Amino acid sequence: MKILFTTMAVALLVATAFAADPIPADLRETALANFKALPSTTPAVANNPVTPEKISLGKALFLDPRVSASGVFSCNSCHNLATGGDDNLETSIGHGWQKGPRNAPTVLNAVFNNAQFWDGRAEDLKAQAKGPVQAGVEMANTPGQVVATLKSMPKYVEWFNAAFPGEADPVTFDDFAKAIEAFEATLVTPAPFDAFLNGDDAAMTSQQKQGLALFMDKGCSSCHAGINVGGEGYYPFGLIEKPSADVLPEKDKGRFAVTNTADDSYVFRVAPLRNVALTAPYFHSGKVWDLKQAVAIMGTTQLGEELTEEDVDLLVAFLNSLTGKVPEVAYPILPAETATTPRPVS
Ligand code: HEM
Ligand code: HEM
Repeated sequence: MKILFTTMAVALLVATAFAADPIPADLRETALANFKALPSTTPAVANNPVTPEKISLGKALFLDPRVSASGVFSCNSCHNLATGGDDNLETSIGHGWQKGPRNAPTVLNAVFNNAQFWDGRAEDLKAQAKGPVQAGVEMANTPGQVVATLKSMPKYVEWFNAAFPGEADPVTFDDFAKAIEAFEATLVTPAPFDAFLNGDDAAMTSQQKQGLALFMDKGCSSCHAGINVGGEGYYPFGLIEKPSADVLPEKDKGRFAVTNTADDSYVFRVAPLRNVALTAPYFHSGKVWDLKQAVAIMGTTQLGEELTEEDVDLLVAFLNSLTGKVPEVAYPILPAETATTPRPVS
């Protein structure tokens, strides 16, 4: 009998020692000091009032491959709204089957990032949208050719007029970018984490809540904070310990290319983590396919800590609570080409 009690006591002790951390009573309060729930309506964007006409034009443009030189690539080719708003490739494939240098981030909730791209080189979504169209490895087109293509289709001219009333000649590259920005502002994905922040205790599992507590305790939230759980500041990738050369390829110096400041070598925008469970592979190099491995790498490179397997599991459980509801996007019927529509080039 005594042996049985002793065995039970030891078992209980072991179980308590390995039991996951309790969920702090003030978890929501602490979380609200670090993060913000998504709004329930489409957010406003600077210098570009979002209207229903702009949104539906922007949707058509986002899905129209004819804005690329080859007529093959739309924004949705690399930011597929059905697969997490990205292309699930290591690095994107664009014009002429060229492989680009970086992994495509998701467009979902991108409206909340303080700046766009891994190095933050575009200040907002309207500035960003002009980039891929002209990038040789992406859509390889020119602003003039995009405008000529759109003007050749009367339906597009009608839609631009409706979206930008009062403008004499609204089919411009600027308005193209503004319409896309308006559509992207609608790509907001409320998640269980938001419901928890808004007061619903049952929205997250206890493992996810423990993961959230750990995410803040360990210091992940000192970088990944705010409404997008990232997307705000810039830090060296390898703040404490340099990642391996395949994960951090030597030639991509990140923000250094934007600021030309030595201190910005290998500095990248803190990745926004909403929907991260849908957007493998990870990091700007796209070299890591497993979210657990990505989290463990963050532990060593950014915190200088080997995270235990239990910790990694809890952190990943929390990251799963950031997977939100993607808005339904009905595929529009796009305007038909005419005799004057520029022909695709390969
Ligand atoms: C980055 C939108 C076309 C590949 C981005 C970002 C946005 C975006 C909003 C920044 C997201 C963030 O920083 O979190 C668009 C739009 C497009 C378009 C509106 C159409 C006009 C494409 C295409 C490709 C592509 C066709 C692939 C061929 C990428 C890549 C990045 C990126 C690789 C990261 C580049 C870097 O950080 O240097 N895109 N995209 N995009 N997109 Fe696109
Ligand atoms: C990227 C999670 C701590 C800065 C990432 C990614 C994940 C992640 C999953 C990849 C996202 C993607 O590719 O879409 C975590 C977790 C942390 C943590 C769970 C705590 C254990 C930190 C800290 C910092 C930081 C403390 C700042 C010192 C960054 C940066 C990137 C990133 C700059 C982008 C890296 C790149 O260039 O690819 N984080 N992170 N993270 N994180 Fe963290």
